[in-house]
Amino acid sequence: MQEPGVNNSSICDSTPRITLGHFDKVSNPKSIHGIYPYRGKMSAIDAAYVISQLPSNATLLDPFCGTGTIVYEAQSHGMKAVGVDNNPLACIIAKGKIEYGNQESVLSILDTAIQNASLLEEVPMMPDSASRYFHPETANQIMRMVSISSDFPSYLLASLYGSICVATRACNGWLWTSTSVGRINKPLRPVDFYSTLLKKARKHSEFINAGPLATIHKHDTRRIHEVVPDGSVDVVYTSPPYFDALDYTGYYSKIVLEILGLDRTSIREGLIQSFSSYKEDMQSALAAIDRVVHDESLIIFVVGNRMVHRKLIKGSDIFTEIAPWINPYVVEREYTKTASGLWDTINATKRKEQILVWDLASGGRK
Ligand SMILES: C[S@@+](CC[C@H](N)C(=O)[O-])C[C@H]1O[C@@H](n2cnc3c(N)ncnc32)[C@H](O)[C@@H]1O
Repeated sequence: MQEPGVNNSSICDSTPRITLGHFDKVSNPKSIHGIYPYRGKMSAIDAAYVISQLPSNATLLDPFCGTGTIVYEAQSHGMKAVGVDNNPLACIIAKGKIEYGNQESVLSILDTAIQNASLLEEVPMMPDSASRYFHPETANQIMRMVSISSDFPSYLLASLYGSICVATRACNGWLWTSTSVGRINKPLRPVDFYSTLLKKARKHSEFINAGPLATIHKHDTRRIHEVVPDGSVDVVYTSPPYFDALDYTGYYSKIVLEILGLDRTSIREGLIQSFSSYKEDMQSALAAIDRVVHDESLIIFVVGNRMVHRKLIKGSDIFTEIAPWINPYVVEREYTKTASGLWDTINATKRKEQILVWDLASGGRK
């Protein structure tokens, strides 16, 4: 995710149809996006700025939508928005953000659900792999809620899973930072999970959109043409999976997936996150995306520099090489004050991200 202290510099001078912003703050606590701490979540402020320049009657696709930051912002702008991701947990959170809903009815469903959960006589045990992160009283309340959540609206599921992340951090004395998630800090503190959940569901519910309804497909983008019609997309805007094999089933999601009994290994197998096959995998995703755009589409990719085997690899170089489109406009932004600042100092790395914009109307295909 982009962090404060961003500097912009243009690398190529063809004129893009959009301008890219420079923000001192990248996260907005007064939004729906804090509902779940997903790895690689992009800046909603940045996304909203780009989207505000796009025609509101256009169809936007995020082919690696994660928790739906871009899809939600496009929906808020009145666009027809479509998100695709092959991680089922990310899709649930994304659906929770974009689902049409009514704040009052969602909160009343939750009140009743909490009452029902607290009265349950038989409560499933939390799997050992997850229970070691929670005080037993908190684990019991979580399992009560999870066991009655099968017919929850997606917004409440997203709140429930986001609250599990808050609770595990709280049980561990709030000591986890972005690099120490999962470190057990005994003694584990009891946390009232029902209050945590109510607080989160209330906090973000005022940002529930009233439509038009966006669509989220849980699907492999290498076969995106199976769920998105050929030539139907006006704008592609995405932050793709990175080539340093970031694990989108790790971090807080590891704990949530364990509680839900979902198999991380099989989810991982459906994602592009192996460095050795990255170029080949991404090339096949780009070829599939090419089928669903048309000759006038605008394609925006947010990528970054990464250290791989002690070598610095520039995201824009890889995508310029493997994308099926020519002549991207590239903006590079350098940013500081990241959560990984210590590693950056040790590795002498400056964090940089690039935004590539292919305008097929003026560029075209290779
Ligand atoms: C950088 S993250 C996107 C984060 C998103 N912008 C957000 O704000 O939450 C990249 C996403 O690509 C997804 N992904 C990786 N391989 C995929 C594939 N083959 N098909 C669909 N999605 C995939 C991952 O699950 C991950 O959610």
